[in-house]
Amino acid sequence: MTPDDRAPAPKAINAVEGDPPQFYNRHVFVCTNERPPAHPRGCCAAKGSAELRDYMKKRAKELDLKNVRINNAGCMERCELGPSLVIYPEGVWYSPKTRDDIDEILATHMVGGGRVKRLMLKPGDDPPPVGKKA
Ligand code: FES
Repeated sequence: MTPDDRAPAPKAINAVEGDPPQFYNRHVFVCTNERPPAHPRGCCAAKGSAELRDYMKKRAKELDLKNVRINNAGCMERCELGPSLVIYPEGVWYSPKTRDDIDEILATHMVGGGRVKRLMLKPGDDPPPVGKKA
C-alpha cells in the first residue's frame, strides 16, 4: 500500500501550513504498562489492557478500518484511571473496561466520528500524583 491508496486523513490539531498529511487517519495508543502488584498507582496491564488492545486490533481488522493503527504504549501517566487509551489526531482519551466498551469506541468514534462520552477521560479526572496533596 502506498500513501496514495489511503483515504484522506483528518488534519491534525494545531497543524500548520506545510505540514505533511497525517500518515494514519486514526492512531490509537493503548497503555500496556505493567507494575508490581503492590504499586500504589496500579497499572493498565493489571486491568486487562493487553487483552483489550488485542481485541481492538482484531475487531478493527474485521471491520476493515482503513488507515488505522493500534499500538502499544508505555505508561501515559493516567494509571489510576486505566486501562488508558488515546486516539489521535483528536487527542481523545478513553478508559474502556470491557470488550463491549471497545466495540462502542470502534463503532462510535473510529467509524462514526462521534464520541463515547461515558468512557472519556477528561482533564481533572486524574487523582493528585502519589505523595502530593491536591
Ligand atoms: S500504567 Fe497505564 S497510564 Fe500508567
